[in-house]
Amino acid sequence: MRIHLHPDDHGLAHALADQVTAALAASPTLVLGLPTGRTPIGLYRELAARAADGRVDFSRASTFNIDEFVGLPSDHPGSYRRFMDEHLFRHVNLAPDRIHFLDGMAADVEGECERYEAAIEAAGGLDLLILGLGANGHIGFNEPAAELAGRTHRARIHPGTIASNADLFGGDTSRVPPEALTMGIATLLKARHIILAASGPGKAEAVRAMVRGPVTTMLPASLLQLHRDVDLLLDRAAAARL
Ligand code: GLP
Repeated sequence: MRIHLHPDDHGLAHALADQVTAALAASPTLVLGLPTGRTPIGLYRELAARAADGRVDFSRASTFNIDEFVGLPSDHPGSYRRFMDEHLFRHVNLAPDRIHFLDGMAADVEGECERYEAAIEAAGGLDLLILGLGANGHIGFNEPAAELAGRTHRARIHPGTIASNADLFGGDTSRVPPEALTMGIATLLKARHIILAASGPGKAEAVRAMVRGPVTTMLPASLLQLHRDVDLLLDRAAAARL
């Protein structure tokens, strides 16, 4: 894992945006895997600003978001799809038919997960996957457990993770759906290049365990140690225990 330190959120967002901009310039048909959460907001803001003055071009790119809540329609204010519309999609020139999302309303959950896996394959696989990090070491909605699912699947969200997602629901944890659809660990690890971003003191222990600890399903991000092309972009607080 290559570790890059940045003094603050602003530097982190710029460095992430530089990586995405360079990847798109080198490969205009780039297939991106994208996260939600507080961490990528600065990245999306910076990409929106660059798109506004023509410094980044998404016109031939494709995106696959990592996860979505079960039971929320795409236009629900708490949905990850709505988050992405507001923070990125409406500001850049992505073709609507190349924006891919898991459907949390799908009646046939297994079929929906298979459809997503097949769509990623059909697009040629993820070229660049941007990840956030849960305070308990989760990636996507792959929560710490004795066993992890490889492929896209339905997952139960841990109470701490529900609390960290409550902002999307007016701070009310009881309104956060208890389940999500998420890419699995193998889906994530098949990406050709992975960039994980983490900031703030709340991530410091998960960052330490991800980098220095054993590879264990009890800290899903530690499985990134198995991947040959991972960049970690950290602010000082998140890197404090390395
Ligand atoms: C959420 C998402 C993850 C995200 C993580 C960190 O629960 N499912 O994909 O990376 O938690 O979120 P944040 O960036 O807000 O700390």
